[in-house]
Amino acid sequence: MIFLKFYITTPIYYVNSDPHVGSAYTTIVADIIARYKRLMGYDVFFLTGTDEHGQKILQAATALGKDPQSFCDELAGRFKKLWTKLGITNNGFIRTTDENHMKVVQYFVRKMLQNGDIYKGEYKGWYCVPCETYWNEDEISTERVCPSCGRELKYISEQNYFFKLSKYTGALLDHYRRHPEFVQPDFRRNEMLKILEGGLKDLSITRTTFKWGVPMPDDPEHVIYVWVDALINYISAIGYPSDLENFNRYWPADLHLIGKEINRFHSIVWPAMLMSVGLPLPKVVFAHGWLTVDGQKISKSLGNAIDPTYFVEKYGNDVLRFYLLRDINFGKDGDFSEKNLVNRLNSDLANDYGNLLHRTLAMIEKHYSSTLPAPADSDQIDEKFKEEVQGRIKEYQKLMDEYSLTQAVEKILEVLMLSNRYFDERKPWVLAKQRDFSKLATVLYNVCEALLKVAVMFSPIMPDSSKEVLSRLGFDSQPSKEIFDEWGTLRSPVKITHGKPLFEKKELVSEKKESEPKMENLIDLDEFKKIELRTARVLSAERVPKSDKLVKLILDVGELGQRQIVAGIAKYYEPETLVGKTIIIVANLKPAKLMGVESQGMLLAAKDGVNLRVLTVDGDIAPGATIS
Ligand code: MSP
Repeated sequence: MIFLKFYITTPIYYVNSDPHVGSAYTTIVADIIARYKRLMGYDVFFLTGTDEHGQKILQAATALGKDPQSFCDELAGRFKKLWTKLGITNNGFIRTTDENHMKVVQYFVRKMLQNGDIYKGEYKGWYCVPCETYWNEDEISTERVCPSCGRELKYISEQNYFFKLSKYTGALLDHYRRHPEFVQPDFRRNEMLKILEGGLKDLSITRTTFKWGVPMPDDPEHVIYVWVDALINYISAIGYPSDLENFNRYWPADLHLIGKEINRFHSIVWPAMLMSVGLPLPKVVFAHGWLTVDGQKISKSLGNAIDPTYFVEKYGNDVLRFYLLRDINFGKDGDFSEKNLVNRLNSDLANDYGNLLHRTLAMIEKHYSSTLPAPADSDQIDEKFKEEVQGRIKEYQKLMDEYSLTQAVEKILEVLMLSNRYFDERKPWVLAKQRDFSKLATVLYNVCEALLKVAVMFSPIMPDSSKEVLSRLGFDSQPSKEIFDEWGTLRSPVKITHGKPLFEKKELVSEKKESEPKMENLIDLDEFKKIELRTARVLSAERVPKSDKLVKLILDVGELGQRQIVAGIAKYYEPETLVGKTIIIVANLKPAKLMGVESQGMLLAAKDGVNLRVLTVDGDIAPGATIS
C-alpha cells in the first residue's frame, strides 16, 4: 500500500490583537484543504499556532501594562478558542514561546553558524515594527513608509548577526526552475522570481535593543529575529530534531498556506534557511489574496463587521466557510460583505441545495413511507444525468487537488443545478399522479444519490450540514472518496428523514445599524467647552532619561507663553522629528509629574492599537490659537 501523507500549515499568528475574519480566512481555508485530503485517504497533519516574540508583541503587551508572557498566554488562548468555535481540525498548535520550540530555534541557528552562513556586522536601515520587516533604502520611497502596510518606518542602527542569504540566490533560482509548482499562484511565483533575479542581500537575523525573543546561542545580548524564530515552527512542531521518525514522516511540508504579504519570507528566506542546514524544501507555498470588508481594509474600527464569532453565531459555521470560498476567488484579493453572504445563503444554499433535498425527501415520505426506493429502469435522460454528475465530480477533484478552490465549489453548484433541472424535467409529481411508481423510484433515487455526492463534496467545506444530509439519506458510513467513483452508493430500501429546512433563509434587516459601533457616554456642548484646546509649536523634544515611553517637549503656546509637556510617545517617534510641528494640546489640564518631570498639559494623539500619531494642524496657524 502506498503511504499517502499530507502536511499542511497556516502561518502562525501574531498575538498582538484578537483574530479577525481576515486571519480566520487562512485557517478556514487550510481546514478545508486538510479535511479534503483526509477524505481522499491521506494521513494529514495540519498545523497552526501563534507567533509570540518580537518588538510588536512586546509593544502591545507594554501598552496594556502586561508582562509579555502572560499577555501571550491570554491571546494564544483566545486564538485556540476561536479555532474550536470555527470547527478547525488542526492536529498541532505551536507557540513560539514553547520551551521546545525555542531550543530548536537555537539548534537550527547553531547549525547555520557551523555551516559558515552567519557573520557579525552592522545593520543601518529601516524597520517596520507592525510587519517585523527590514527594508533597504532602495525599496522604500522618500515618505519612509512601509511598502507592505503603509505605516511609518523606524530607522535602526545595530550590531547584528547576518545570514548569508545572498549566497543562496542561484540555488533558489535553480529550485524555482526545476519546481515550477513551488510557489503558487503563478503570478506570485513571478513576483518572487523578479526579486531573485535582482539578487538577494544578506539578512540581519538578530536584534539587541529589546530582549523578547530567543537568545542567540553563545551571545545572549542578541535575540534572534522574530521571522527566523517563527519560520522554524514548521519543523519544530513535528519533532525536528528530537523525534526524527515523526519528522521524516511529515517533512517536507506539502503545503504552506499563507497570505500574499508574507510570501517573500516563505518562498525565499525559509527555503534558503533550509538549504543552509541541508533539509529538503516544502513542496508548495501558496500565497492567497487579502480580504477587505465592505470595500475597506480590515481594522478595528469596523467593529463587529470583522469578528468571525459574530458571523458564526448569526449564520452558522458552514455558511461562513462556504461564503469565503464561493465569493472570494481563492488566490486573489476579494471583498467580504454580509449582504453578499446573505444572498449566497438564500440562493445557493437555501434554494438550490436545501430546497431540492426538501422536495425530494417530501415525496419519498409521501409515496414510499419514508423508505428510499430502489431505482428501476433507466432511460437515456437518467443515464445522461448520471454521466454529467460523475463528470462534474471528476472536475471537482482535479480542481481541489490543484487548489482552485472557488472553481471546485462551482462544480458542486453545477451538480445542484443539473439535479434541479433533472428533477424539473422528470416531473416526479406528474409520475406520482400517473402512479408510475417504478419511474418515480428511479428519479427520486437518482436525485438522492446526487445529493449524497453533493454532501460528500461539500463535507470539507460545510461539515455540519453534510453530516446532516448523510444522516437524512440514511447513509450511516463515513463519507469517503469511494462515493465519488461509482453510481449507486446509497443503499435501498433505507429509512430517510425528511426534517426541517437544511438552511434557513435570512434577511439582512438594518445592516448599517447592526454594524455601526454604538456611541455611548454622549456629552453636551457645555461639557466639551470646558476643555481648552490650543495649538502649540514644538520648540524642543527629548527622551526623559530612564524611561522608554516618555518624551519631554517644550512648546510655544503663543499668548500662554512656553509650556513643558511630558507625553508617552517615545515608542512611536524619534523626538527630534517633532521639532517645528504645530500640535494640539489641552491647555487647562492640572499639572502633574511623570517620572519626576512636570507636565503642564497634554498633547492629543490618535491610536489604533498598533500605531500612535500626534495630531497636527492642516497648514499654517499661530501658536496658541484656540480650537473649537
Ligand atoms: N506572524 C506572521 C506569520 C509567521 S509564519 C512563520 C504573520 N502573522 S499575521 O497574524 O500578521 O498574519 C497571519 C495570516 O493572516 C497571514 O497569512 C495574513 O495574510 C493573514 N491575514 C491577515 N489579514 C488578512 C486579511 N485582511 N485578508 C486575508 N488574510 C489576512 O504574518
